Order: sequence, then C-alpha cells, then structure tokens
Amino acid sequence: MITVEWRGKPVWIINRTQEMLDTLPKLADQMADPKSEKNQQPAYAQNETRSIKPELLVVVGICTHLGCSPSSKFKHGAEEGMSADWLGGFLCPCHGSTFDFAGRVFKAKPAPTNLEVPPHVYLTDTRILIGEDKKGA
Ligand code: FES
Repeated sequence: MITVEWRGKPVWIINRTQEMLDTLPKLADQMADPKSEKNQQPAYAQNETRSIKPELLVVVGICTHLGCSPSSKFKHGAEEGMSADWLGGFLCPCHGSTFDFAGRVFKAKPAPTNLEVPPHVYLTDTRILIGEDKKGA
C-alpha cells in the first residue's frame, strides 16, 4: 500500500492479493452499499472490487463519517485487535467504522458511504494519473 496526495487528501493505492479479493463476495451481505450504487465514485468503480483493475484499489484514505484516517487491519482474525471473524480491511478508530478491502463500509456503522474513489486513469500499466479520468474530469 502506498499513499499519495490529491487535493490535500491522502489517496491509497493498494495492490490486493487474490486472497484479499476472495473476501469481497463473502462480505457482500454485510456491506451497507455492496455494489457502490450511491453516486460517490466514477462509474468505473461501481463494481464489487470498486476499481478499474481488480487487483489495484485507489481510494481516498479519509473516513466518510467525520474525516478521520482509517487504519489498515489487513490480517485475518483477532491478531490486530479485530474480531475473530474479521477478514481484513480498515478500521476507523474514531467511531469504529469498518471497511473491507474494497473500501466498502460495513452496515450499521457511523460512516454513511464507502470510501471515495477519486477520478483516475491508467496512463500505462505502471502509471496512474489521479484527479482526471478519460472524460478529463
Ligand atoms: S470519523 Fe470514522 S467513524 Fe467517525
């Protein structure tokens, strides 16, 4: 996971393993907006992985509740202080919102929406431009 800055906000770029991706369908019924149908991200992120390339997640690392910075909790289970059935993702320590490896918020948490996916476009296989997409947004 690397962090870059866009408009003064941290943007996380996370290279997800197949094991991480495999958790997403298992968690769909626990998510508040599993298909990201709320209009808060580009159309190319309105899918289960919330990404253009399944393995690469690009999200703003700011909780959609009151703007705290969630912590990565990538290990399964209770090792990082989560519950035994935790499959990995992010915890916002401020008020306890939890997000999966696609930045989707769990149901009944303070955060009202999934983490924001910023406009972005792949210039090459290894270069991403954040802040613009193919429409020049
Ligand atoms: S700011 Fe993240 S849960 Fe409140």
